Amino acid sequence: MTNRVRELTATAKELLNSSDDERVGSLSREPFVSYGTAKRILIRMNALLHSPRSHRPASMLIAGATNNGKTMLVRRFTDANLPVHDEDADAVICPVIYIQMPPTPDARQFYLAILEKLHVPIQRTAVLSHVQAQTLKICKIVGLKVLIIDELHNIHGGRIEQQRYFLNLLRYISNELEIHIIGCGLASALRALQSDEQLTNRFEHWPLPIWKNDKACKVLLNTIESTLPLRRQSSLSETEMIERIVGLSGGTIGEIVRLIREAAETAIRSGAERIDTNLLDGLGWVAPENRRRAAEAVLGHRG
Ligand SMILES: Nc1ncnc2c1ncn2[C@@H]1O[C@H](COP(=O)(O)OP(=O)(O)O)[C@@H](O)[C@H]1O
Ligand SMILES: [Mg+2]
Repeated sequence: MTNRVRELTATAKELLNSSDDERVGSLSREPFVSYGTAKRILIRMNALLHSPRSHRPASMLIAGATNNGKTMLVRRFTDANLPVHDEDADAVICPVIYIQMPPTPDARQFYLAILEKLHVPIQRTAVLSHVQAQTLKICKIVGLKVLIIDELHNIHGGRIEQQRYFLNLLRYISNELEIHIIGCGLASALRALQSDEQLTNRFEHWPLPIWKNDKACKVLLNTIESTLPLRRQSSLSETEMIERIVGLSGGTIGEIVRLIREAAETAIRSGAERIDTNLLDGLGWVAPENRRRAAEAVLGHRG
């Protein structure tokens, strides 16, 4: 056992005397759990947002496995920087835009995604040069500073020359508008950009690694524990527990959070009020890797 005294968040503390149903219900509200890398990335994104415009703007690439918190992180930044209405100028200021990369590196789809976010109506049949001109113009008008492109790995959905063209386009709009581009995607996105030297130099690499049994994971688990309205201390951050949690989850934050929330629900319903290795083992949790194998077996593929 550990001597550490757990510290609950104010919300978790308030919930301690609530009914089981209320406490279980609270588990599915998804509060953002902060962790070291996320904090550093948010600080950097904020620094870019508030830096003076430059003709050679820095950009970021947040690369990691699927289900490892990329979208949640950039959404948090976007939600903290929503468009505002400037009363004096009677104009909308929109410093941050979040879009998803279209399934293929298609310039028209890309511009249309931006225009859609800005609620700018445009004829879908308009010629590309017009769509591009409109997009650049409106981005300048709203004072765009940071463009977030999620699922950037979709760049691979095109032939090599389309990929090149699209990378050039990114560089062009970044220069032209003096905006920072923040790309999110699988590690393969990183490789695609590395093939473009001029662009690589501009993109800072911010990996979101798979979680493993180390200090950072211990801190993360302590933070998650502090949000759980359980009446007893669980000590999620003991070495054996970390091993188990990392093993069962495959090390992505999405699975870690889901596993622990399910364990917390069981701990509340059973009256155990704490999560230990026995409780985790009793969940019958199938690790993502084994889920995949089982699905492949059903489909008749070899694992
Ligand atoms: N910082 C976080 N705090 C709490 N839950 C998180 C956090 N990051 C991710 N998650 C959980 O993981 C799931 C997957 O995250 P997401 O950002 O969609 O992953 P990715 O974009 O890397 O595929 C989310 O739906 C959420 O439940
Ligand atoms: Mg995502």
